[in-house]
Amino acid sequence: MIGIADLATVNAGLNATAAVLIGTGFYFIKQKNIQAHKACMLAAMVVSALFLTSYLVYHYNVGSVRFTKQGWMRDVYFPLLITHTVLAAVVLPMVLRTGFLAATGRFGKHVRIARWTFPVWMYVSVTGVIVYVMLCRL
Ligand code: HEM
Repeated sequence: MIGIADLATVNAGLNATAAVLIGTGFYFIKQKNIQAHKACMLAAMVVSALFLTSYLVYHYNVGSVRFTKQGWMRDVYFPLLITHTVLAAVVLPMVLRTGFLAATGRFGKHVRIARWTFPVWMYVSVTGVIVYVMLCRL
């Protein structure tokens, strides 16, 4: 059985998986492979939804975890954490809108917003992993 403390590692794994799926989905649309693009992006949405649920369960039980390291790590950690958190809140409606526009066949508008959603979602997923490593593994 995994305990609540293990959820931090699960969450980082989900973030890393989302990053790979988003990157692969982007690669596929550049190859004009719409079905594979759709499959990767839908899978990334499912993984991100699982992440959000697990993240909420973890922090409901554990509260906030203090960063106690000093020096350059602190100077890197807090800007990363703040940009990660703000953009994570911003990207949620963007992902839903991007997916909704595709699901309703409005691909012109889909592409216009997706060009912002893609890098922001990627940044949030990758920095999620970095924040975890800096907080729990270094
Ligand atoms: C929220 C998740 C999604 C993201 C972040 C996303 C991202 C993108 C991006 C960045 C592009 C433009 C690529 C370029 O610069 O050339 C694009 C194009 C496209 N996406 Fe998505 N996508 C998502 C979901 C979907 C879904 C579910 C479908 C369903 C079919 C889809 C279908 C398409 C199609 C058909 C295009 C090409 C449109 C055209 O060139 O006219 N996307 N997507």
